[in-house]
Amino acid sequence: MRRPMVAGNWKMHGTRASVAELINGLSHLVLPSGVDVAVFPPCLHINQVIDGLQGQSISVGAQNSAVESLQGALTGEIAPSQLVDAGCSLVLVGHSERRQIMGERDEMLIRKFAAAQACGLIPVLCVGETLEQREAGKTLEVVGRQLGSIIEELGVGAFAKAIIAYEPVWAIGTGLTASPQQAQDVHAAIRAQLAAENSEVAQGVRLLYGGSVKAANAVELFGMPDIDGGLIGGASLNADEFGAICRAAGN
Ligand code: 13P
Repeated sequence: MRRPMVAGNWKMHGTRASVAELINGLSHLVLPSGVDVAVFPPCLHINQVIDGLQGQSISVGAQNSAVESLQGALTGEIAPSQLVDAGCSLVLVGHSERRQIMGERDEMLIRKFAAAQACGLIPVLCVGETLEQREAGKTLEVVGRQLGSIIEELGVGAFAKAIIAYEPVWAIGTGLTASPQQAQDVHAAIRAQLAAENSEVAQGVRLLYGGSVKAANAVELFGMPDIDGGLIGGASLNADEFGAICRAAGN
């Protein structure tokens, strides 16, 4: 049985004051014991969040990390080893906002994924198609290529210690959610692609859905057989809403 996970990606949101408020809200949540819960604050606030959530069973991750594992001369970047030192256990790799706005390509993401794993961080590889690609019937091809680039370079075994988030770009921050069946179809294809190489890895890896998840649609999404939880953007900035989504994953 895969343990469900709900993770909040705070993106580029927050001030010290608003983060303190969110930490306070999270600290008071009653979280289901069978669900792994994580948050990904902006790097600037990671220390504050780790200090503030001490004693809570909420993991903390970063939204991005460097292509090199260890600290060194790389202005503006944060090394995976520095994230581990700060107390992080996870890192997002290849969020669509970074692919699209920061121009991150598969070659760079392979390096980020490997560098993170080399330090013991769990990479959360984000994949997903644009609306144009979906309308052209290319969803599985695009997602398959994004996933395949990592499998080819690092081997399917890399996913024994990784998580995958399927986030259709057209559903991110738009209020449009993939239907449970649409999301399930892509999750099943991702698992099948892994299973073609190694069925044990495929059965063990957690596949999260992201894209306008709210408490109101979470139960149905998380009820699908290959959806093991969610990567939540906007709704994770509200502790009560986030808590309700976590409880939906526990059902
Ligand atoms: P929203 O939940 O705001 O659509 O964002 C999803 C996302 O991009 C999480 O990484």
